[in-house]
Amino acid sequence: MKNHLSDELHQLLNESLIYTADGKVADYIPGLAQADPHHLSIAVSYPDGTCHTAGEVEDKKLTLQSISKVLTLALVLMDRGEGFVFQRVGKEPTGDPFNSIIKLETISPSKPLNPMINAGALAVTHMLVGANVEERIEKLLEFLRLITGNPELTYNEEIAQSEMETADLNRSLAYYLKEHDVINEDVEDLMDLYTKQCSIEVTVPELAKIGLVFALNGQDPDSGRQVIPKRVASICKTFMVTCGMYNASGEFAICVGVPAKSGVSGGIMAAVPGKCGIGVFGPALDDKGNSVAGWKLLEKLSSKYDLSMF
Ligand code: DON
Repeated sequence: MKNHLSDELHQLLNESLIYTADGKVADYIPGLAQADPHHLSIAVSYPDGTCHTAGEVEDKKLTLQSISKVLTLALVLMDRGEGFVFQRVGKEPTGDPFNSIIKLETISPSKPLNPMINAGALAVTHMLVGANVEERIEKLLEFLRLITGNPELTYNEEIAQSEMETADLNRSLAYYLKEHDVINEDVEDLMDLYTKQCSIEVTVPELAKIGLVFALNGQDPDSGRQVIPKRVASICKTFMVTCGMYNASGEFAICVGVPAKSGVSGGIMAAVPGKCGIGVFGPALDDKGNSVAGWKLLEKLSSKYDLSMF
């Protein structure tokens, strides 16, 4: 796909722009509500170090939001091991909205069904190693600086604070998890860590680079280093396929067919196995929390270049 991509990427982006009108910017986190609903941009990152982009990507950052869930999962799998992690969080899709509490109550023993829903992500964030919130977020940031090659990567304090003030549904999930011994730390500390994690800021090319490392089974083509063990990258990609687009993951697998993870800021990170990483940013969301135009753009790209794994 690479040789013709530059021009065609612009064309596909232009064709997808109209779909930005079909969605709404997330406003339940006030810091996200200021995003431009008409924005759409994309970057495709290749193993040889090239990166093609379309739309405005310079100086335009987005917060990872739920995309961060894949990265905390990778880090805790590396630090704690599969046995420890999956004793506390499951491996199955839910079919429910990302912030739903319902399965926590109906399944016994109470254990979040997977690491991509908020309950599961809170359980995974709880497993981040470190003496305090600052050490734990710093560890995650260092991991992301290594993957993106950006030593200045950090989180957006304003958006973290804005989520902290409004995250009562997540607080409820955390208290529920604490009652059932899935977590055992102070809920406010966990919320502080989780909101900072969700507010980590990247550019769209950095998002594509993260996707590329997963696409290459955890290897960073720039340094040649195995930054994520192959097995861990494989587990993360599997969750991206089964739960990465929440209760639209099955439809996305049919329409696009590559491992991908979305966030309510409007970002989508996709990993095309062995080929490339893709970052998309389109803040207007559908009713399930996925970027409407971002989805359409990936669908067009996948169909044009036959990217589906299935
Ligand atoms: O926990 C939240 O509600 C947000 N920080 C992240 C949710 C999210 O990105 C779900 N995505 N589709």
